[in-house]
Amino acid sequence: MNKMEKKNQSEGIKRREFLQNSAVFAVSAIFLSGYKVYGSLSVSQMGNSIPTVKLNNGIPMPMLGFGTNTLNGSVCERSVSDAISVGYRLIDTAKVYGNEESVGAGIKQSGVKREELFITSKLWVDDSGYENAKKAFETTLNKLGLEYLDLYLIHRPRGDVKGSWKAMEELYGKGKIRAIGVSNFEPDQLDELMANAKIKPAINQIETHVFFQEHKLYEALKKVKVQMEAWSPFAAGRNGIFSNQTLAEIGKKHNKSIAQVCLRWHHQRGIVAIPRSTQKAHIIENLDIFDFELDKSDLQKIATLDLNKTQFPEWG
Ligand SMILES: NC(=O)c1ccc[n+]([C@@H]2O[C@H](COP(=O)([O-])OP(=O)(O)OC[C@H]3O[C@@H](n4cnc5c(N)ncnc54)[C@H](OP(=O)(O)O)[C@@H]3O)[C@@H](O)[C@H]2O)c1
Repeated sequence: MNKMEKKNQSEGIKRREFLQNSAVFAVSAIFLSGYKVYGSLSVSQMGNSIPTVKLNNGIPMPMLGFGTNTLNGSVCERSVSDAISVGYRLIDTAKVYGNEESVGAGIKQSGVKREELFITSKLWVDDSGYENAKKAFETTLNKLGLEYLDLYLIHRPRGDVKGSWKAMEELYGKGKIRAIGVSNFEPDQLDELMANAKIKPAINQIETHVFFQEHKLYEALKKVKVQMEAWSPFAAGRNGIFSNQTLAEIGKKHNKSIAQVCLRWHHQRGIVAIPRSTQKAHIIENLDIFDFELDKSDLQKIATLDLNKTQFPEWG
């Protein structure tokens, strides 16, 4: 390579780095807009971070995170590392996803300090009960390569829920978990758990998206101050969500994509959402939702999309 070619190559690299850094900066810059209140929910935005919501035990949780179901091996590791590098801080995994080691490797690869992250995992049904739950939690920590979790959830209301919760309360007391919660619990199942609990669940992570808006559960959780978190915020692409006409029209009006409209809708409801993607462009796009507002007519149109039923009937 002659002198001129070397110079061109080095300028090309510099230009590429500049463009990449600008893209990250552009996404970060939109988080600088201060403090917002939606209904009774107060959301704070600090520095260049994603807005957080205060859980019922006082700890802040990012309102937008990164889901990892079905991601495995190097794809999982790269996607998690990409997500953290562009600004995500909340990462959601579970023992049953079989990817805790890859998620842990992605976290390590990102180089971001542990205390800046918010890591969630979940106790699977087979590990329910007091002793089993304690063992399963240790295995999860070891696989992730972490000293503590920010959030640990009972994945489904099955098995010895009371025993599992007792173990989780103890781990919480010892500072091994910063918040404990549940997933896929109906209001009566939550009531039963709370009737016997010393510590109230901070979270209920449930299926909710524009096709399954879960209004009753939404109100019930609000009443007992348990934060709602949306799994499959895009219905995992089912029911033609990414080509839905209504969502496309709303997106066009705001110069946003269907994915961004969906995530903004969750955000304005005060729900934490954890979209998954393996594509860096999508991972960045999904963060870019804090510079626009869905208005009344947009929300009315989205309300009409509710089919009031799960898009995952096979999961019972
Ligand atoms: N607690 C539970 O029982 C439970 C159950 C299910 C899920 N979860 C959690 O919730 C997370 C999210 O749910 P999910 O993984 O089922 O699905 P999801 O996030 O609703 O949808 C993921 C799909 O959307 C696509 N996508 C993402 N961003 C996009 C964009 N900007 N434009 C177009 N397509 C886009 C992805 O494809 P690309 O990769 O091509 O972008 C992928 O096919 C899970 O990963 C998991 O952490 C929890």
